[in-house]
Amino acid sequence: MTSLATCASDVVASNNKGITQQTFVRLQRALRKHYAVKIPTLAHSAKLRGIMPRQTNRQPPPSEIAEIRPGQSIELLKALHILTRDGRMNQDSRRKLKQVYHLVQFIEPLLHEVIEDRGSAQVTDIGAGKAYLGFILYDLFFKARDDSSRIFGIEARCELVDKSALLARELGYARMTFINSAVAEAFAAPQLPATMDIVTALHACDTATDDAIRFALDKKARFIVLAPCCQAEVAAVLRKHKGASLGEPLTEVWRHPLHTREFGSHITNVLRCLQLEAHGYQVNVTELVGWEHSMKNELIIARFKDLPRARPAQRLNEILEKLGLMELNERFATV
Ligand SMILES: C[S@@+](CC[C@H](N)C(=O)[O-])C[C@H]1O[C@@H](n2cnc3c(N)ncnc32)[C@H](O)[C@@H]1O
Repeated sequence: MTSLATCASDVVASNNKGITQQTFVRLQRALRKHYAVKIPTLAHSAKLRGIMPRQTNRQPPPSEIAEIRPGQSIELLKALHILTRDGRMNQDSRRKLKQVYHLVQFIEPLLHEVIEDRGSAQVTDIGAGKAYLGFILYDLFFKARDDSSRIFGIEARCELVDKSALLARELGYARMTFINSAVAEAFAAPQLPATMDIVTALHACDTATDDAIRFALDKKARFIVLAPCCQAEVAAVLRKHKGASLGEPLTEVWRHPLHTREFGSHITNVLRCLQLEAHGYQVNVTELVGWEHSMKNELIIARFKDLPRARPAQRLNEILEKLGLMELNERFATV
């Protein structure tokens, strides 16, 4: 007869790696028999027990393999739901993986540079979401290294942080730390070191990218890698003062509502770049991936070089003044 005690010892023996199908069925029977408790389906139980998918030996088909970087853990991609349990990839996952790999391609040389100089790298990903970037970087770059490098993920949504922390534990990715906080409140989080080598923010919503910039400046980041999301704040201020500035021909650039939004978004990134330059950074702006993959496609990479600051700071203030955005001078502060 199946006893609950036998099942429980099997579960413990599985050492948190997930129970076998046989144990599951026995547990299901025992619960039903002794307590009239029903566990609906095996798939549901897999969801409940954590986020690591059941280990399968199914390899992705060659078409999918071609898109996966050599050395990348297939089990990780399955756990991140980039690959299905059958090793397939849908269009959304394909787009996400392509985006993350593209970003990794930009970040890798920066990591090499930092590690060559300092022996290890401290990286923070802001608005980490499901932490695709952090996990994929860790798997490709950090896992094989025996140093004190660490990846921090800052994310406002508690359930995403809990899932990421659980997955990192299950994978044995010990040098990943997840902090559940809005970035603006995370500057002094005790888990974080006083300085950071690389700060990334991939599509952190609205003004979270601006908070990420403040965070990176506060942590004296050597590199800042940003793929901004749409920011509504600048467009709102342009809209508010539109009537007052209609006499000015330049206002035509943002008179129509669609243009207000688009110009607002564009000028936000221009101001961000000037702000970074006004803090001594050299800034490069490029495409993240082709437009067919994402509408939010701008990539800003800043490298601290201690460059002269006066001219970009002056330019930034002139633009704020010219466009009636002076109330945002704290947002784009240059000191
Ligand atoms: C569009 S998702 C991008 C997630 C991830 N970077 C990626 O590219 O897959 C934006 C994430 O930023 C988080 N977020 C938004 N505002 C934030 C803030 N102020 N501080 C921390 N996280 C924030 C959201 O909860 C969300 O998970």
